[in-house]
Amino acid sequence: MDNFQWNIPTNLLFGKNQIDNLPSAIEGLGKRLLFVYGGGSIKKIGIYDKVKSLLSDYEITELSDIQPNPEIESVREGVRLCRANNIDAIVACGGGSVIDAAKVIAVSVSYDGDPWDIMENQRLIKDGLPIVTILTLAASGSEMARSAVISNNLFHRKLAIGAIPFYPRVSICDPTYLYTLPQKQTSAGIADIFSHAMEMYFNETMGAYLSDRIAEAIMITCVHYGSILMEEPENYEARANIMWAGTQAANGTIRWGRGKVVFPCHGIEHELGAYYDITHGDGLAILMPNWMKYTLNDDTLPQYSAFARNVWNIIENDDRCAAEKGIEAFEGFLKSLYLPSSLSEVGIETEDLFEEMAGNAVVNGGLSNAFVKLDKEDVLHILRMSM
Ligand code: NZQ
Ligand code: ZN
Repeated sequence: MDNFQWNIPTNLLFGKNQIDNLPSAIEGLGKRLLFVYGGGSIKKIGIYDKVKSLLSDYEITELSDIQPNPEIESVREGVRLCRANNIDAIVACGGGSVIDAAKVIAVSVSYDGDPWDIMENQRLIKDGLPIVTILTLAASGSEMARSAVISNNLFHRKLAIGAIPFYPRVSICDPTYLYTLPQKQTSAGIADIFSHAMEMYFNETMGAYLSDRIAEAIMITCVHYGSILMEEPENYEARANIMWAGTQAANGTIRWGRGKVVFPCHGIEHELGAYYDITHGDGLAILMPNWMKYTLNDDTLPQYSAFARNVWNIIENDDRCAAEKGIEAFEGFLKSLYLPSSLSEVGIETEDLFEEMAGNAVVNGGLSNAFVKLDKEDVLHILRMSM
């Protein structure tokens, strides 16, 4: 287990009606707020009206219509609004896309150049406006994480960066806000949460025993409550456990104590997202089992057999057999959430862009440092397996 420092400034308010504590939680952050949200789901849920009435004595500027896989253009518009209105803090209400846009706006306000420079070079980040989040989708874990992902469609880039100022000051996580999620988004979110735990679990650092067991618990929670949510979208216990799993998978609990951590499936998925309009969790659901089949070998067998036995309860003496049955069980789980299993199912019919995407994935995703090192040919192979 490696050394680590864990200092998260996020005041997390979890549970029903925590929104009522918003005014007291943000006291002292300033009176001029940028209120960032997406395409309108928060109006249907009623959070929009609630926030406006709770913060009636604040000066609020709105930035709406943040799209899934948020574009740098929305960030630029947010920076313009912050400067024009002397904004003190940002309140982001939505899923990972809204929160990530807010994060990059927050650190770009004091930067003189174009916000995309920051995505290309996170060392340009000096400080940022305080960020407050109200979460409506359990997936990215962005509500308590120091990362943000932004796309630039002009250059076919989708990049992830991390910085301390990205940690939200306050995050409100009310599981009842997830009741309105379409099944597709619930499932994609669960695939994303599972992937965050899984991609850290498959790691070469020895002795991170506790982190491994917590990662297993997060994956088991996804499996257990995932199937319940397919039948009962308004099951509070299931929504609450999935929401908490999403936060825990990304806030560092299972990351610290491991040496280098690379997310190979994320590295490849972000390239799919850079070229195609694809839901993050769907892309991961397609890639993960193929990445597993490709990287299962004599060296990785101990991790794969532990994954099979501890997450999927596979009872099998032979390690290889157990590992294969574990991957099979995982595929069955993804199918039970109605997630896609091939790229053609999400409209990617040709391999034309695979060369370009594979090369970019290796560089942007740092895949030559992954648990199983991947070069361009390896990524091409995984993409072809995913067709
Ligand atoms: O735009 P609205 O109307 O809000 O609709 C959204 C959107 O269409 C809808 N939605 C959200 N909450 C809802 C709801 N619909 C009904 N009821 C609700 N309660 O769901 C759609 C998808 O929202 P989005 O924010 O895009 O989903 P998600 O939270 O999965 O975020 C995806 C983004 O996060 C990035 C992904 O790459 C992608 O850009 N990630 C961010 C990470 C991070 N910051 O650490 C890590 C992740 O690995 C991931 O890469
Ligand atoms: Zn993810």
